[in-house]
Amino acid sequence: MSDPRDRSADAGFDASALRGLPLIEAIEVHAELGSTNDRAKELAPSAAKLPLLVVADRQTAGRGRGGHRWHTSDGALTFSLLIDPTNHELSLGKQGLLSLATGIAVIDAVQRTTGLAAGLKWPNDVLLENKKLAGTLIEAPRPDRLVIGVGVNVNNRLDEAPADVAARAISLVEAVGQEVSRPRLLEAFLHAFSMRLNQLASAEADLLQSVRGACILTGQLVTLTDGDRTTAGTCRGIADDGALRIETSEGVQACRAGSVIRSENHPRLP
Ligand code: BTN
Repeated sequence: MSDPRDRSADAGFDASALRGLPLIEAIEVHAELGSTNDRAKELAPSAAKLPLLVVADRQTAGRGRGGHRWHTSDGALTFSLLIDPTNHELSLGKQGLLSLATGIAVIDAVQRTTGLAAGLKWPNDVLLENKKLAGTLIEAPRPDRLVIGVGVNVNNRLDEAPADVAARAISLVEAVGQEVSRPRLLEAFLHAFSMRLNQLASAEADLLQSVRGACILTGQLVTLTDGDRTTAGTCRGIADDGALRIETSEGVQACRAGSVIRSENHPRLP
């Protein structure tokens, strides 16, 4: 019987396939890791060369936002970048935009690799056919280090995933009908991310234009939950600092944190 991990279009990862990647100064490639974000955080105090890329062929304890588990089966693309924010002119005030820039870079890479147009669901989800294709998790283990974690459903089949994940997620192999090379997708991401980081430093208007063009929530009825605070209304797009603008009966609120769902049960504001 053939090994289900054999992939025709996806040779997997080895250091030589990943040589010469844009942006990257050092790489760790793992056949299996708990979480690439956890490994990048472990390396934060000692890593001499940055940006450092940590890639895992398999991840067994992937983490998502809000303490959620990130389900990853074989064939997903999971990696983390460890960067020094000061090398990229990334002040604290730009963290909201960094999350959106990362999502846009995933969208750029998917477009370049497969021709598919994915959308951005504030603040960190990439959706295809209204289902989750990718998520990002940005963490700051110390003031001078950021970990940017990215998980993309590529060649993993979600019919094998837990029922709640299978119903809400999609992978590229399902959308395209054939396997997609993870090393190629990773390289396309790094090209795009490098360009988006430059925009974040010196051409924010260009980044915002892409973010606003990809935002799938604009004009939709949404409910945002942030702890015990709920904001419901019509999404009016993305503010200049990356906040989600929601028009409620009290006016437009700029929301900088929280989880958002599209809602149908309250009246639409004109
Ligand atoms: C989310 O949608 O909630 C974020 C998911 C982020 C998952 C990626 S997979 C690589 C990196 N390592 C982790 O443990 N999480 C991120």
